[in-house]
Amino acid sequence: MTHLDGKRVFVTGGAGFIGSHLCKKLSASTRKLTVYDDLSSGKVENVKHLPNVRFVRGDILDLKKLQSQEKTDLIFHLAAQVVVPYSMENPIFDFETNARGTLNVLEKARKDDARLVFASSAAVYGNPTVFPTSEDYGFHPFSCYGLSKVVGEEYCEMYSKQYGLDITIMRFANVYGSGCHGVINDFFDKIHRNPEKLEIIGTGLQSRDFVHVSDVVKALILSTKGEIAIGKTYNLGYGKTIKIIDLAKLIIKLLNLTGKTVITTTGVSWQGDVNTIWFDIGKAKKELDWTPKVSLEDILKEMIHERRLDQ
Ligand SMILES: NC(=O)c1ccc[n+]([C@@H]2O[C@H](COP(=O)([O-])OP(=O)(O)OC[C@H]3O[C@@H](n4cnc5c(N)ncnc54)[C@H](O)[C@@H]3O)[C@@H](O)[C@H]2O)c1
Repeated sequence: MTHLDGKRVFVTGGAGFIGSHLCKKLSASTRKLTVYDDLSSGKVENVKHLPNVRFVRGDILDLKKLQSQEKTDLIFHLAAQVVVPYSMENPIFDFETNARGTLNVLEKARKDDARLVFASSAAVYGNPTVFPTSEDYGFHPFSCYGLSKVVGEEYCEMYSKQYGLDITIMRFANVYGSGCHGVINDFFDKIHRNPEKLEIIGTGLQSRDFVHVSDVVKALILSTKGEIAIGKTYNLGYGKTIKIIDLAKLIIKLLNLTGKTVITTTGVSWQGDVNTIWFDIGKAKKELDWTPKVSLEDILKEMIHERRLDQ
């Protein structure tokens, strides 16, 4: 028995990386789970084998279709345009999906009087100057993606205050694990193509807080238990940071390529890239009784194993 037994749950972006891990966990504890995803980056194969899942191919920008879905008790809103450089090249598309799309999902929550958990991002902090960065640092977005997430959060606040909806905002650091995208995959791909050279985009001095997707999923589910997380915002990271150049060295070490792979840097990063992500996770630990369990080294070992790079 879990607190979600018998609840009708609706996951936007459920066919994506984090969403599909969440649905896998949820499908074991709820009998009414709807995945709503336009498959722009997600894959139906990620969820179609799961028990108790009803898949709907739909766009969060299609308000009519969203509103016509069966009444739900709980919404996890993860659908988004997630690529920072893309948001800088296509700010209107990014805004539409992340800001207006979130507003549409909030309208569905309002219609159903459903509880909602919103997937936000470290990008709302921009380039913080206080470390580890806590939830009350404030909004200083540095990319269009960060700004569209701020708008999403602000609408959540508004719907919470004005319509009395039960909403929790979760800000993710850099989430990793099976099926993820981002810098670690990029490094593995590059080394696979040419083990003699690993090029880092940027200076390599940017640093990131890597958290495993299983720990994020645990926190998302815990946030829907009882009343404690209603109206609150939480950072979800591992609570440690590592420079990208040190991440590259660690990967090379774990692949037994030390002395064989030369690291180079482009020196120039992409527009909207930030220097340091390092989360203070004290609030989630205390209030949600949550502790991330999987270290970066474990994440890397899991990914090396999955890609059969250890054979
Ligand atoms: N992965 C991370 O490190 C990270 C960090 C911070 C925040 N987040 C947030 O977590 C959430 C999930 O990210 P992810 O890494 O799983 O990304 P993802 O791209 O794998 O998943 C996003 C999903 O949303 C779907 N989608 C996109 N636009 C849609 C639309 N208009 N209508 C319906 N579905 C749509 C995609 O098809 C995909 O399945 C996003 O909101 C993202 O901003 C992720």
